[in-house]
Amino acid sequence: MPIIQFNIPLVTGKEIYHIRKVKASGNFSGDGPYNIMCQDLMEKELQCNKVFLTPSCTHALEMAAILADIKEGDEVIMPSFTFPSSANAFVLRGANIIFVDIDPLTMNIDENLIEDAITERTKVILIVHYGGVSCEMDKLLEISGKHNILLIEDAAHSYKAKYKNKYLGTIGDIGCISFHETKNIHCGEGGAILINNKRFAERAEIIREKGTNRKKFIRGEIDKYTWIDIGSSFLLSELNAAFLYPQLKIVEKINQRRLMLWQLYRDSLNEVSLSFKIELAQIPDACRHNGNIFYLKTKDSTERENLIRYLNNKAIFPAFHYLPLHTSYAGKLFGKFHGEDKWTSIESSRLLRLPMFYTLKKKEILEITDVIKRFYLTKVG
Ligand SMILES: Cc1ncc(COP(=O)(O)O)c(C=O)c1O
Repeated sequence: MPIIQFNIPLVTGKEIYHIRKVKASGNFSGDGPYNIMCQDLMEKELQCNKVFLTPSCTHALEMAAILADIKEGDEVIMPSFTFPSSANAFVLRGANIIFVDIDPLTMNIDENLIEDAITERTKVILIVHYGGVSCEMDKLLEISGKHNILLIEDAAHSYKAKYKNKYLGTIGDIGCISFHETKNIHCGEGGAILINNKRFAERAEIIREKGTNRKKFIRGEIDKYTWIDIGSSFLLSELNAAFLYPQLKIVEKINQRRLMLWQLYRDSLNEVSLSFKIELAQIPDACRHNGNIFYLKTKDSTERENLIRYLNNKAIFPAFHYLPLHTSYAGKLFGKFHGEDKWTSIESSRLLRLPMFYTLKKKEILEITDVIKRFYLTKVG
């Protein structure tokens, strides 16, 4: 039986052409023509004030933490159901992480629990749009505005997904995107920071260039550049930008296909979900997602283990994540859970991601869903 892998990174066929152009130009380092073309395209399409490509979403989050001016003892509110980078970026600057429970329908932070976790030390609310399904942005903007706290979007999964008529990552003060190979479009490792709050634009340019005003020098605005702030090398290599560029140009087509595959999964699992109480992702009306992740939730973690084994025996390789951060070694050192963990641990122990990638075939999805149906019908679980 042919193997169905969890992910096959997208290759459009145009990447090598663009990488050859980089070779011919001799301009390999950051912020060459391909970086500029990608950033301009993103700014135009997302209607975003300023976009900078970064080596990863992790780096974009680290830039965001510097821009937020996080100091020792500041507090950052976020869900525990997320990737370590969401928290690490702020811990690196001395923050304490305050984890808040999720809404089990979307696996996103429960916006109704945030205000209770706010203290005079709260500097940032960091939200994650899980699987490109948006958080409840109207309410989050209201809370962050009322308390004068920065709202940072971890939109790692969410390129070109929307909340109402706005793209995810462009709604809060800062947005962070991932172009890792598991995302809809990618360049192996890559990311972007979206600067929506204009007051951060100038400093972002400096932080990204090792804390120097080199960009001003390159634009001819000053006659030499120097070290003026903290920073690091948050630039993306031209080779990566050249790989990303052709994918950025056809992202709508890519997302459309993923959404079609996502819907096929959903339709073919609908019946079994009604009979066997497995749960499928819910998409709120205000959200247009991008098909980055398809998941189901089993009855409990034992049923999930059994289902994984059953699928693996049929050469199908699903995956799961995240282990809640507040239960991890570092999460206990650097953070604490505010309120009751009603959903985070239990829901993350039931969540199972099914294979999802651009070249996945419809017939493969039907094979996968048939195996899942057989698992439930023979009551292996
Ligand atoms: C929610 C979230 N934030 C951040 C990241 C880190 O992204 P990257 O691998 O581009 O650093 C990930 C990784 O998938 C993620 O899931």
